[in-house]
Amino acid sequence: MKGVILAGGTGSRLYPLTKVTNKHLLPVYDKPMIYYPLHTLIDAGLNDIMIVSGRGHAGHFLELLGSGSEFDVHLTYEIQEEAGGIAQALGLAEDFTDDDNVAVILGDNVFQDNVHDAVQSFESGSRIFLKDVPDASRFGVAEIKGNHIVSIEEKPTEPRSNYAVTGLYLYDNDVFDIIRTLKPSGRGELEITDVNNEYIRQGAMSYSVLEGFWSDAGTFESLLRAGMMVARYRKNKMMI
Ligand code: G1P
Repeated sequence: MKGVILAGGTGSRLYPLTKVTNKHLLPVYDKPMIYYPLHTLIDAGLNDIMIVSGRGHAGHFLELLGSGSEFDVHLTYEIQEEAGGIAQALGLAEDFTDDDNVAVILGDNVFQDNVHDAVQSFESGSRIFLKDVPDASRFGVAEIKGNHIVSIEEKPTEPRSNYAVTGLYLYDNDVFDIIRTLKPSGRGELEITDVNNEYIRQGAMSYSVLEGFWSDAGTFESLLRAGMMVARYRKNKMMI
């Protein structure tokens, strides 16, 4: 399985922090944000990882992370020329995946759970990771019936559950064919939620529910919360 970290986008919700610095390089407690998703993939046992970033900051990621040798992994870099959405950014990793399965993680997501077993046992279709949250309408939200996800709604005003779809997705290589069929959403982006709904339609979606702390870090509130939680866990010598 290959790993892909998506670190594009303009970070407009964190302006002016992101006026000069890329969102994914901002501090979350004592490390640059992108270290957290990188370590989630490394702890899952992946060692061939691509970082997709916007043109303006690609050199910064290279300076920070280099070849990946200090982490015992191999890093590859790809440029997303325009901010066309998460699914469009993932599409740029097609050649890199070389027909293999792929674990995709958003560069602003901080996970406490170790997802090693879910990643290593993944075979085909798609698997997503849900988290019970108090503010589901900020995220993609899964509607679950019985043991199955029946739909995902992107940022619904009236969420059908408290289960946020977190920014970690496992896909087989069909994902690239699905991305080619997508049309831009109302916000002009190729949405990862449309990809996931297609896997649901095909009956090929599975999920795990996370137990540990999870947060995005793309708004002032969530960036602060992620930093506070990492600090608290670090003091208790717990993972993250
Ligand atoms: C994206 C996805 C959303 C997901 C979230 C997780 O939203 O579109 O489905 O729940 O990441 O962080 P964004 O924050 O990029 O708008």
